[in-house]
Amino acid sequence: MFRTVSKILAVTAVSTVLAVGSAFAAPITIKFSHVVAENTPKGQMANKFKDLVAERLGDKVIVEVFPNSQLFGDNKVLEAMLLGDVQLAAPSLSKFERYTKSLQLFDLPFLFKDMAAVEKFQKSAKGQELLKSMESKGLIGLGYLHNGLKQLSSSKPLKVPADASGLKFRIMTSDVLAAQFEALDAVPLKKPFSEVFTLLQTKAIDGQENTWSNIYSKKFFEVQPYITESNHGVIDYLVVTSTEFWKGLPDDIRGEVKKALDEAIAFGNSVAAEKATSDRQRIIDSKRSKVLELTDAERDQWVKAMKPVWSKFEKDIGKDLIDAAYSSN
Ligand code: SIN
Repeated sequence: MFRTVSKILAVTAVSTVLAVGSAFAAPITIKFSHVVAENTPKGQMANKFKDLVAERLGDKVIVEVFPNSQLFGDNKVLEAMLLGDVQLAAPSLSKFERYTKSLQLFDLPFLFKDMAAVEKFQKSAKGQELLKSMESKGLIGLGYLHNGLKQLSSSKPLKVPADASGLKFRIMTSDVLAAQFEALDAVPLKKPFSEVFTLLQTKAIDGQENTWSNIYSKKFFEVQPYITESNHGVIDYLVVTSTEFWKGLPDDIRGEVKKALDEAIAFGNSVAAEKATSDRQRIIDSKRSKVLELTDAERDQWVKAMKPVWSKFEKDIGKDLIDAAYSSN
């Protein structure tokens, strides 16, 4: 009798400890670091993800969003992710060169004619394979997120490639983008996004390339008198995490987090499509910067000047990948 009672007491004590333990289990924190403003496709996507996770996973998972390079800038975030200091980021596809050459594909000038072609390629088997291209380096792509096509902003009007000759342009950390500006006889400078406004304002550089949403939200248009609507490339993002973190999540939590992420990405993509039009119009309405449209003949000159870059990187990227991406147009 005495032994039975003490057994019951012991079992009850263990279950109480377990129940209390799980009730007080520390929540999983996902720090999401990015470099852009909150009123951008990526900023809106990150905030949506945070809200969906809060709604569905309560206090089991907490998402903390750090916009505007508050936590990490471009050059540090992937290292920090591998060290476990941040769990989620969505750098531009131009910023993975140290980890894979395949993603350089997206920097080839005039590869995609519009965002529909980008989307079509990314949904294809080859596009999906690229999400896994850095697994051996400890990083895993969870999805693509759009921003938009790139425009050239400058301190002087750029109508034909010769107008860019000798000018200094800030670029993201990409050798393809460096080659693109070298093909124009211009000077490319790899600089973090957080420094671009000051570099333009102080005239340390003459120009830069970016999407309408980034040019608007970071006020580049206030310090750049001309923007050429060149649509010569794309800024798209890889939503990325560390393989160790991702595989270490309990299965049910990982499933719910991925679902919330997919929905947030779909929302971010709709914001991207809307901002490509509305932020362009806001810039035009501001009258701070003149938007220059190209004639077909002028555009052909830019294509002719920049396209030789493709053959330089064909070996690193792979001809089959380039062909597959181009055929999505
Ligand atoms: C971004 O959109 O995340 C930044 C792009 C850039 O570095 O120009």
